[in-house]
Amino acid sequence: MQELRPSETSEWYTPKYIFDALNCQFDLDPCSPGPGHWVPANKVYTIEDDGLVHPWEGLVWMNPPFGGRNGQVPWLKKFLIHGNGIALVSALTSSGWFHDWATKAETLVFPRGKTKFIRPDGSVGKSPGYGIVLLGMGDRANKALRQCKLGWFVDNMNWVDFEDD
Ligand SMILES: C[S@@+](CC[C@H](N)C(=O)[O-])C[C@H]1O[C@@H](n2cnc3c(N)ncnc32)[C@H](O)[C@@H]1O
Repeated sequence: MQELRPSETSEWYTPKYIFDALNCQFDLDPCSPGPGHWVPANKVYTIEDDGLVHPWEGLVWMNPPFGGRNGQVPWLKKFLIHGNGIALVSALTSSGWFHDWATKAETLVFPRGKTKFIRPDGSVGKSPGYGIVLLGMGDRANKALRQCKLGWFVDNMNWVDFEDD
């Protein structure tokens, strides 16, 4: 994702070094530009398929399309319910959606530095205004995040919603 207005594109791709660090072969990328992309996923859903309406199977890589304010929430909900994979979202730690959904992941990694995303022509985008967070669900994802050395690893297994007390 990038710092974009809703009218702008979702065609910003995850840099390859993130996948090198994660060292995972994913079963599904449910929000993909199409087959043959460098995301290491055995199966993809594109905008034509609509990855939100299909069932997800196996270890998922999810970098959701930009959808304006709260546009990623349906993707995050589906990711958390699926419970097996790694998601990339902006580390917008003051946003309501971040507190409502990103904090429910079992593990989190806040990579050091700003992640520059890749355009469809292969060029590298400008440094965004904020960082990203990788969210982990399930044993394989959590282990990959723990070992990736991209940044600050957070084990969130004992997360407590104090409003429930
Ligand atoms: C931020 S890019 C991430 C691409 C790739 N997964 C990656 O990590 O580099 C989001 C992608 O989702 C695609 N997309 C948009 N709406 C979608 C939908 N409803 N279902 C599946 N893919 C969608 C866009 O075309 C775009 O390629």
